[in-house]
Amino acid sequence: MGGEDVVIDPWGSAQSTDYSRITEQFGLASMDDVSVPNPSRLHRRGIIFAHRDLDTVLASQRLGDSYGVLTGLMPSGQMHMGHSMVIDQVKWFQEQGGDVTIAVADLESQATRGVSLAKGRDIALREYVAYYAALGLDPDKCSVYFQSSRPIVQRLGFQLGKRTNLNEFESIYGFSGDTNLAHVQAPLVQVGDILHPQTESYGGLRPIVVPVGVDQDPHLRLTRGLAAKTNWFNVKDGSSSGVVIGLSVQDDNAEVLGKLPNGRLDKDKLNSVFGGLVASLEHLGFSDILSNPKQGTVSVPSATPNDTIRIRMKLLEYERSLGGMGLLAPSSTYHHFAVGLTGEKMSSSKPKTTIFLGDDLKAVEKKIKRAFSGGQATVEEHRRLGGNPDIDVAYRYMMYFFEDDDAYLHEVNSRYRSGDILAGEMKQMCIDRATVWLGELHEMRDQTEHLVTEFLASDARY
Ligand code: TRP
Repeated sequence: MGGEDVVIDPWGSAQSTDYSRITEQFGLASMDDVSVPNPSRLHRRGIIFAHRDLDTVLASQRLGDSYGVLTGLMPSGQMHMGHSMVIDQVKWFQEQGGDVTIAVADLESQATRGVSLAKGRDIALREYVAYYAALGLDPDKCSVYFQSSRPIVQRLGFQLGKRTNLNEFESIYGFSGDTNLAHVQAPLVQVGDILHPQTESYGGLRPIVVPVGVDQDPHLRLTRGLAAKTNWFNVKDGSSSGVVIGLSVQDDNAEVLGKLPNGRLDKDKLNSVFGGLVASLEHLGFSDILSNPKQGTVSVPSATPNDTIRIRMKLLEYERSLGGMGLLAPSSTYHHFAVGLTGEKMSSSKPKTTIFLGDDLKAVEKKIKRAFSGGQATVEEHRRLGGNPDIDVAYRYMMYFFEDDDAYLHEVNSRYRSGDILAGEMKQMCIDRATVWLGELHEMRDQTEHLVTEFLASDARY
């Protein structure tokens, strides 16, 4: 494959939609390889197209173990249809048993968009949380907090900042010498957002999944890398079979792992660490455990790749008991961006491209009427050649947002392709559905307004 590498800029307005290229270049895993029980509309229609380590979360789902969902919002403008896709996913995870944490990125918004904390709070509550309630998120299993008022988030960012540097930030984000330092801190705060739900005070060790648009993947790459660097025990699939665990001796664990200040080894200490390690693994039911403290490894020849997750969790638990952070790299899922009305990206800063959740119905009708169409120039040509639903905004909005019935959507798709449905008729179908959908949403918004404070964590109520 030729061509330049894709660059993902989480703060830019232009965003590549070459999803297969992105998947390949950044090593995302395809959704085709996992089987999702009770798939949502976004899963069934291939709109959620990639993930990282989703298997970890699905395993917890299957076993009835706890897991968390974390996502964040940047309070800078109005909430639009594109933003609602993340909430659809959060809602789905919530229905499948995940607990939900939502970060209001007020520090990031101040750093990168110049929105004051007070304004950010106001926008978050009025524009976002109000719609979360209206869209049917359950406030009892959802907790919204502000970056600026949750110290652990900032502390984690600071602590993990020690394990990265400007070179890495340059290569991930394209930062350079004149990048504002608040902007440099924003990703570290996001690292704190993503990792803090697994700390003891926020739910403890469990898999955390982060549903986002692919523009946020750089933050996940950073977070996953940093979490892995802190781990005291690395888990590798053995070369021929089984699983091999290796010790990672670092400045802040050397003493616990038996390395004396003079560089010598305290063998008793090391042996007792390995004893604990073996006991942890025995707890999982393995009996063939080969412990080799001198080499710093333990192998479990009978473990299969399916056991890796359980082993990893157990080791993190053990690491925590020894005083380590015990951080599990987050999982993530990625969805296609909603196309804008004009055919380019949907963006709050360009109202012409966007349907806002608060738009009045007449305005929405007008917007859809003017939307980019996949129809032919004349009716005669359309009947003869057919339309293209893949680029037809009205069709895509039904697919992404407004039409629940897969069979019906499929039928509309083929009738458009065959020229049976005209471009104007497609728009009218979309308008009809959008009107009902948004009308109901606005009604719900009025009815659920009183729930907004129930979504707020205690540190967010002031
Ligand atoms: N950076 C995100 C945005 O621009 C907002 C955000 C902050 C976030 N913290 C997060 C998203 C954690 C996902 C997970 O919209």
